Amino acid sequence: MAEIEWSSDLSVGIETIDEQHLKLIELLQGLEDAVRIGKDAGLIEDTITNLFNYAKVHFATEEDLLKKHKYPEEKLHQMEHNKFITKAFEFRENFDARKPGLNIEVVNFLSSWILSHIQITDQRYTRYLKKHGHS
Ligand SMILES: [Fe+2]
Repeated sequence: MAEIEWSSDLSVGIETIDEQHLKLIELLQGLEDAVRIGKDAGLIEDTITNLFNYAKVHFATEEDLLKKHKYPEEKLHQMEHNKFITKAFEFRENFDARKPGLNIEVVNFLSSWILSHIQITDQRYTRYLKKHGHS
């Protein structure tokens, strides 16, 4: 899989959310590089922890926004976020430096998840918010 990268077609048109998505993608890029290069296990675990913590902050920001604007699919959206959190948590718990192939597979899963979540699921709620007067 090609490296995960930020591009303008990932913009959802809400500045704070775009900034958080960019940061999330940067963290994933860092993790992808660390796993590929085969960096020190402790360093990779710290990178996963940073990603995990930032994902929680970002998802909480989105979920507050969705609640505030009474987004009809808020619960569904939250469930999707929980899937990512569960996967990242499992990765942190079970990370094994001796299984590089498996680690790359998990990172690829997280990267693909983020891209499709932003392009499909997040675009849906931002369209709704714009239509309902969120500037
Ligand atoms: Fe989201």
